[in-house]
Amino acid sequence: MISANDFIPSKYTHSVEEGNFQWSAPSNIALVKYWGKKDNQIPANPSVSFTLNNCKTITKLAFAKKQNDGTFSFDLLFEGQPKEDFKPKIQKFLERIEIYLPFLKDYHFTIDTENTFPHSSGIASSASGMAALAMNLMSIEKALYPEMTEEYFYQKASLLARLGSGSACRSVKGSVVVWGNHTNISGSSDLFGVEFPNAIHANFKNFQDTILLVDKGEKKVSSTVGHDLMHNHPFAERRFAQAHENLDQLITIFESGDLEEFIKIVESEALTLHAMMMTSMPYFILMKPNTLEIINAIWKFRNETKIPVCFTLDAGANVHVLYPENVAKTVLQFIKNELVGYCQNGQYICDEIGNGAMLI
Ligand code: PMV
Repeated sequence: MISANDFIPSKYTHSVEEGNFQWSAPSNIALVKYWGKKDNQIPANPSVSFTLNNCKTITKLAFAKKQNDGTFSFDLLFEGQPKEDFKPKIQKFLERIEIYLPFLKDYHFTIDTENTFPHSSGIASSASGMAALAMNLMSIEKALYPEMTEEYFYQKASLLARLGSGSACRSVKGSVVVWGNHTNISGSSDLFGVEFPNAIHANFKNFQDTILLVDKGEKKVSSTVGHDLMHNHPFAERRFAQAHENLDQLITIFESGDLEEFIKIVESEALTLHAMMMTSMPYFILMKPNTLEIINAIWKFRNETKIPVCFTLDAGANVHVLYPENVAKTVLQFIKNELVGYCQNGQYICDEIGNGAMLI
């Protein structure tokens, strides 16, 4: 089995004075949710997500050799402007990954980053942001050690992204990504995300995700606090076991294309995630009245039309509406007619399943 130590480099064969890279990395939406973790960002249960296509972070990383004085040196720009309040998170990230990238203190970095989705839309940019930065850092390591295999490159990029933000490790490569050991998914690992290795039915090709922005406010519960709430949670062990079971069922569903069964798992996972927050101590309700209005409207529409459209939720009030491409026109019309009124300023984002990070 691969261990984290396998990603500590023993030597580099090249030296590089300066340069720059630019990568985009997408956001992702979990179907089986990651909620609860152990030390070092090891997930308490395996999760699986669809990679998104349009919601992305684009990060340019410039680097220039400096004297190694034992400190990290970097400037951070967000949409071209210095952004001091993002710096502590990056500093912490660099400290966490230094053991895997021993060159970090040899360079001064300029990190220039922007998102394709509106700032403070309530869509977390930590997954796409940390993945984009991890890709750039791996490009530097590849310049120092061009012999590395592509497999190592992507596994390590995902491992680094995970240390920035857990779910970021699912934003590196592939359309359907599994993170966390699962007995029946070969190659699955707690250390990094892997492309779902089994068959995926054509029903899931170009699957659509329309994100309804119900509440764009800052999250009331950071995911760090949220994951922590699973320690000593009365239902934690059962929940972790259930995630394994649900993932097991999804293996079959991905292969058969059974959308009815898909919907059951996905909606149950979303509500379970929120149930965990409602039953923790302290307890939280992250859904808003309009979240529930939307869920009920989707159920009514599905009942009446038999169109396989469903919802999932992140740790917030926004709703991801998921549906196959062949019903996209009808569902989008339904969203415009009946759901947009529940969105803050009528805002929503049309996205679909994508392929992962890209070098620009
Ligand atoms: O990656 P984090 O630590 O922000 O946690 C994300 C957790 C959820 O988005 C709620 C679920 C998931 O699997 O993405």
